[in-house]
Amino acid sequence: MAYSITLGLIIGTKEWRQEVQSCLEGSGARTVLDQPAVGEWPAFLERLERTRPDVLLIDFANLQAPYDELIAQIKNSAAAPQVVALHKSAEPETILSVIRAGADEYLYPPIGANLGKALERLAARLSTRMNGNPNGGKLLGFFSAKGGCGSTTIACHTAVELARQTNVDVLLADLDLDAGLVGFLMKCKSRYSILDAMANTHRLDLSYWRALVSNGTPRLQVIRAPGASAQREEPKTDDIRTVLRFVRFQYEWTLVDLGRGLNPLVLSALDEVDQAFLVTTLDVPALHQVQQIIRSLIDSGYGQDRLRLLLNRVPKAPDVMPGELEGLLGIPVFSMLPEDHGSVYEAYAEGQLLPANCNLGRHLTKLAAAIAGIQEPANRKKFSLFR
Ligand SMILES: Nc1ncnc2c1ncn2[C@@H]1O[C@H](COP(=O)(O)OP(=O)(O)OP(=O)(O)O)[C@@H](O)[C@H]1O
Ligand SMILES: [Mg+2]
Repeated sequence: MAYSITLGLIIGTKEWRQEVQSCLEGSGARTVLDQPAVGEWPAFLERLERTRPDVLLIDFANLQAPYDELIAQIKNSAAAPQVVALHKSAEPETILSVIRAGADEYLYPPIGANLGKALERLAARLSTRMNGNPNGGKLLGFFSAKGGCGSTTIACHTAVELARQTNVDVLLADLDLDAGLVGFLMKCKSRYSILDAMANTHRLDLSYWRALVSNGTPRLQVIRAPGASAQREEPKTDDIRTVLRFVRFQYEWTLVDLGRGLNPLVLSALDEVDQAFLVTTLDVPALHQVQQIIRSLIDSGYGQDRLRLLLNRVPKAPDVMPGELEGLLGIPVFSMLPEDHGSVYEAYAEGQLLPANCNLGRHLTKLAAAIAGIQEPANRKKFSLFR
């Protein structure tokens, strides 16, 4: 059983820690917080809110009853994790008092043996909560097999189209920190970037966030990447997760341009997204890269069902057919977008996005409809951003 959940471990008892760790190996659960004791309470809460584990395993061996206040503070934090109490006592009275105090699960020795089942229950509960929560939107990542395959073009147009077709709030975020062009294409006015959000996760709330984003079209907000010349430290992967988890609850759809290839930043963002769109052209070097990327993701346990292959710049008479590619790469082709150099060139030369009625524009409309699960895309006149 694989659990795509994040965990916080507060375990001081050595044997329990070992048992938990060996139970988690290969389970797909990720540990985002790991310390032997709660320690200083405010610092702990701050850390909890920053790392936001879905589930917190707490060793109750050294904690004093009553537990109500402690569990309430943990559950009322922004992280609001599910709490699993590890306790040496198997007495019904103790179990009851801990559960009554607000713990979601109670484990007693042998901890390792009992943990698997508890995690299964928690993962199922969390997945219902995520899918059933009207405030939890969908995160979509776009990344190119190699430079220039088209992830930025596709992410920008799909974001505009999703906002237009669904009429709900959409965010377009540029996580291509080296060469992000979303801000330029979308004519972003804000001088802040996603890096500011990542550097300030401790004060990430709606009012801070609003100061960072720009308005694109109605219902679409944009947060750009820092300029190519900006001096910056390598962001922490935990901060990327925190920002993505935050935005999930502010927008119905968040589209993230991840740049090209796999690196630690892309990998941690891919962990957070619901669907990962891998964009490739049909030339041999790009297909070679795609093959490597897919293999490496699947080998590392990435759910194949989250990967969506997008073929871009497909010529009228392609050398290789989608069926052949699916055989070669082992995953289905989600969508094919045509080569349309003329339209792209003309639109960009005028500082506009693509018109709706060009070949590529029509395909992008359909792509957004397919992503949103809309059967017949609504008609529209113009697909112009820069008015
Ligand atoms: N379907 C298409 N038909 C014609 N030109 C396209 C198409 N898709 C993208 N392009 C062009 O290809 C170039 C690269 O596109 P884009 O910047 O979107 O790719 P990318 O994968 O984001 O590149 P980078 O690696 O630089 O981030 C751009 O000039 C874009 O206009
Ligand atoms: Mg790009």
